[in-house]
Amino acid sequence: MRIAGSEVHIMNTKIHRIPLLLMVLSAVLFFFVSGCSSMPEGNPDDGERWFRMNRCNGCHGEKGTGGKGPVIAGLKLSYRQFKHKLRAPNSPVMPVFEQKLLSDKDAADIYLWLQSQNNKR
Ligand code: HEC
Repeated sequence: MRIAGSEVHIMNTKIHRIPLLLMVLSAVLFFFVSGCSSMPEGNPDDGERWFRMNRCNGCHGEKGTGGKGPVIAGLKLSYRQFKHKLRAPNSPVMPVFEQKLLSDKDAADIYLWLQSQNNKR
C-alpha cells in the first residue's frame, strides 16, 4: 500500500510539471519561429506607393503584371523568399534593394499588395 501511494505521489508531481514544460517548449518554439520567418506587420494599401517609389513598376509593370521583369502580381513566394530576392537578387538585371533603401516594413507592404493583385494583365 505504501509503495502504491508513493507511486501515485510521484506520478502527480510528474503530471504537475507538464504544463510548465509545455509553456517552456512553446516559448522556445515561438522565439524560434518568429526569429526565423517573422514578417513585420504590413499594410497592402501602402504597397503600391512603395512599389512605384522604388521603380519596381519600371521592370515588373504597373501592377506587377510583368514587363522587362517577370510577372510578380499574385506572387507565390514566401515573404522570406521575397525579401531574399530584394536583398540578394543574384541577377544581372534585378537591382539590390538594401535595408536602408527599402525597409523590411515597406517590403512587407509591397509583398502584401502584390499578393492581393491579379496576375492577369
Ligand atoms: C531593372 C529592372 C528591375 C527592377 C527595378 C526590379 N526588378 Fe524585380 N526582377 C527583375 C528581373 C529581370 C527579374 C527576373 C530575374 C531574377 O529572378 O533575378 C526579377 C525578379 C523579381 C522577383 C522574383 C520573381 C520570381 O517569381 O522569382 C521578385 C519578387 C521581384 N523581382 C520583385 C521586385 C521588387 C519588389 C522590386 C522593387 C523594389 C523590383 N523587383 C525591382 C527586374 C527588376
